[in-house]
Amino acid sequence: MYSEFMDKVVLVTGGNSGIGKAVAFGFAKNGAKVIITGRDQKRGETVVVKAKELGWSLEFIKSDVSNAGEVKNLLSYIMGKYAKLDIAFNNAGTSGETGKLTTCSLENWHYVIQTNLNGVFYCMKYQIGEMLKTGGGAIINNISVSGHRGYANGPAYVSSKHGLVGLTKSAAMGYADQGIRINGISPGLIDTPMTDKDRQKKPGYDEWVKKVEPIGRMGEPEEVAQTVLWLASAQASFITGHILAVDGGILAC
Ligand SMILES: NC(=O)c1ccc[n+]([C@@H]2O[C@H](COP(=O)([O-])OP(=O)(O)OC[C@H]3O[C@@H](n4cnc5c(N)ncnc54)[C@H](OP(=O)(O)O)[C@@H]3O)[C@@H](O)[C@H]2O)c1
Repeated sequence: MYSEFMDKVVLVTGGNSGIGKAVAFGFAKNGAKVIITGRDQKRGETVVVKAKELGWSLEFIKSDVSNAGEVKNLLSYIMGKYAKLDIAFNNAGTSGETGKLTTCSLENWHYVIQTNLNGVFYCMKYQIGEMLKTGGGAIINNISVSGHRGYANGPAYVSSKHGLVGLTKSAAMGYADQGIRINGISPGLIDTPMTDKDRQKKPGYDEWVKKVEPIGRMGEPEEVAQTVLWLASAQASFITGHILAVDGGILAC
């Protein structure tokens, strides 16, 4: 448990599902005031109901990270209501279509880059702007092992995640001496609705996972959440510009 998160204001984009939901619950359980976002209002409301049952402070705001205006409005809302933003987990993302480069449609390319890369740029632009006014904060971007190595069937996804490595490091360098720590995490295969889509499409998926993941299984969203909470905490006070793998060993191969 982290008593330091009590009454901290925490934003989790894409907090209505998978890794984002686990991270949002992790902070909320520790007494933070959590704002989650996503485009699917119904899924957002379901998460809010669950949090309320447990007595946690958590609200859902419908907001699309690929729309800079919506992200700006989101930050205005947070500042208006809470007067600060202490921690942001920029997690919203999409895997897009599967296929090699020549089969990647222009629409898919732009959609994935707009969501995964431009979306985090918009988020950090407005988050950092507000954090600078209120004495700093911590930002963690959700990248992927695909930010460090290629695979043939996801050119847009791999490019967006490689871009996030550079964006995270560049932002970290820009504000390291102004009280804002900016880090990334790179999950391996985590059991969420995103990977469940692949499981439905790919026969023998679970056997394939055992071969790909040195640890022999998928990770749980809660295992990623533990890492995010630690990076956001004072225990990681000298860490910025770092991308931490939470990947069962994939990047060690
Ligand atoms: N699962 C894995 O194995 C794995 C591995 C490495 C990295 N990741 C990364 O982890 C992040 C979360 O993925 P997940 O596995 O937890 O999948 P997920 O359960 O499908 O969650 C994706 C989340 O992103 C939100 N989202 C997507 N596009 C959005 C947009 N334009 N604006 C706002 N929210 C948007 C979704 O909400 P709405 O649909 O309501 O908008 C949802 O909350 C992604 O960035 C993904 O690349 C996942």
